[in-house]
Amino acid sequence: MSSLFEPFNLGAITLKNRVAMAPMTRSRAVDEGKADAQTALYYTQRASAGLIISEGVAISEQSQGYLFVPGLYTEAQVEAWRPVTESVHQAGGRIFAQLWHVGRISHPSARADGGAPVSSVAVQAKNSTCYGYRDDGTPGRIPPATPRALSIAEIQQTIEDYAQAAENAIRAGFDGVEIHAANGYLIEQFINATLNTRADRYGGATIENRARLALEVLDAVVARIGGERTAIRFAPFGRFADMHPFADEEQTWLYMAEQLNARTLAFVHFNNQLSGDQRCIKPDFLGRFRAAYDGVLMMAGGLNRALADSLLNEGLIDLAAFGVPYIANPDLVARMQNNWPIATPNAETIYGGGTEGYTDYPAYQSA
Ligand SMILES: Cc1cc2nc3c(=O)[nH]c(=O)nc-3n(C[C@H](O)[C@H](O)[C@H](O)COP(=O)(O)O)c2cc1C
Repeated sequence: MSSLFEPFNLGAITLKNRVAMAPMTRSRAVDEGKADAQTALYYTQRASAGLIISEGVAISEQSQGYLFVPGLYTEAQVEAWRPVTESVHQAGGRIFAQLWHVGRISHPSARADGGAPVSSVAVQAKNSTCYGYRDDGTPGRIPPATPRALSIAEIQQTIEDYAQAAENAIRAGFDGVEIHAANGYLIEQFINATLNTRADRYGGATIENRARLALEVLDAVVARIGGERTAIRFAPFGRFADMHPFADEEQTWLYMAEQLNARTLAFVHFNNQLSGDQRCIKPDFLGRFRAAYDGVLMMAGGLNRALADSLLNEGLIDLAAFGVPYIANPDLVARMQNNWPIATPNAETIYGGGTEGYTDYPAYQSA
């Protein structure tokens, strides 16, 4: 019995199935971070998912680290998203906006204001890239610049930026927001003990201090738009963007589970990242987190129909998210349901460019 195709009640909304489209940056925003008609078409083609989570969306100019990423911090950006959410809703879909601050994975050339990156501490990310302008003026992957540590006043401003972006997302017609606290970006740069050696209440030795930014962002967003419309994404044990192991790593995530239980949220979303040939979230950890956390749990990372079904049926997750499979399979739900073939995307057209590799992947047609 497959529960993947059964409806699911998510707070005030009903999802028509338990399939989610995972957030994916596609680097196709037009002038100053705006969605356009192609963005609307792309998401509408994928509206048979129970829930779409948008690509990472910048919450402020400071939060940008990749060119051509859309934003939700100017009125023009809010206006530009409205036709996207309307079109998805008309097609019977639901869509959350993913709120993103890259922290230190940035460079002055990736920001319109030319500002330097910020983080928990002034430590440059090694073996990582952001997306800015190279010395010869062409856009491309470049090493992130050395960040400066945010002051307490700037942390307060950043929290306000998340809350304002969440309010803007609702005004733009999104059904809710997912706070991006995964993949080595700003919030994880505070959670990670190897990196975050701050001496104030936002860092250092205690789990409470390192989790504080994530939880204060969450509380500010919940206060602004309501818990039923607020989700958060983590990548426990993820090593992306120069994140390293730390002593109380599992305790950190179990502490987070306890703190999340004290709040009403739409869902918690795990990205089960690939690190080398290993997935970061081990099954025994997933079981322990699941036992500790009372709310709705979504997970992405290497899933297919069979794996998603077994996780759902074992009760380990409630919703299954798919990233790469959604690039070349707009009708992924129907393909999985009918056991039709799953197409592989062209790696050359994933980021940037026009409609090719974006809105031109067809739905499956049997011969
Ligand atoms: C092209 C691409 C862009 C992505 N952009 C984001 C993003 O903006 N935010 C995020 O949280 N994860 C991002 N991810 C990670 C995906 O959401 C997902 O967790 C990951 O691809 C694993 O799922 P999969 O194996 O089904 O692809 C991206 C992945 C891909 C392939």
